[in-house]
Amino acid sequence: MTDTKSLTPYKWLVLGSCVAMLALSYLAMPTYEEIGDEIGYMLRVTARIAFLFLMLAYIARPVRMLLGNVSSLRTGVRQYMKHRRFLGLAMAIAHTVHAGYIASLQLVLGQELGIEILVLGGGALVFMWLMAATSNGPSVDLLGKNWRRLHLFGLHYLWLVFVYTFAGRIAEDPWYIVAVVAGVLGLLLRSWVYWSVRSKRAR
Ligand code: HEM
Repeated sequence: MTDTKSLTPYKWLVLGSCVAMLALSYLAMPTYEEIGDEIGYMLRVTARIAFLFLMLAYIARPVRMLLGNVSSLRTGVRQYMKHRRFLGLAMAIAHTVHAGYIASLQLVLGQELGIEILVLGGGALVFMWLMAATSNGPSVDLLGKNWRRLHLFGLHYLWLVFVYTFAGRIAEDPWYIVAVVAGVLGLLLRSWVYWSVRSKRAR
């Protein structure tokens, strides 16, 4: 039997760094007078941490194609690729905290959430939890081709909600352009990998 522990020796480092980032962000929260501002701050930091891990998982394959043959980087890139499942799980941890703060908008502040936000944002959260629950070998075997469909669709649905949300905030703060550009570059990298693999196969 394969020793799965040795295949992903840094998984606790990945998951632990996500938890540490969440805890440090909480501790670094500025002093607010209103609880609503505290919730808003935590919604923003949890979304940003989740986006970081999502993008790291999203670009793992293109990075392997670009840098996997550079001898000094080969081992690091291989480990990075093997840990992408845990990068996705770290994203799910951070965004589950986001979901907790969303619930507090209603429970603590009594704030009504628009139906379109609940459907589109809530739908993305449901996909994220489905992806997290099926991020294991037995689920891959059980779901077959549907596993890839679920993860490919869910990944891009989450990507879209992130990029759309960040893009909608550029008018308030131009720094959001950085997040949008990072998201679009990730998409371009993945598209490039997809088309180059397809054209190689066609030859
Ligand atoms: C029912 C679902 C959701 C609701 C009600 C919701 C609510 C919110 C709220 C109220 C904020 C703003 C906090 C503030 O600036 O004061 C926020 C920020 C954000 N949310 Fe969510 N959210 C939902 C789901 C999602 C999902 C699924 C994603 C991504 C896949 C996401 C990504 C973001 C991003 C990117 C930000 C902005 C972070 C920033 O300004 O740096 N949200 N969310």
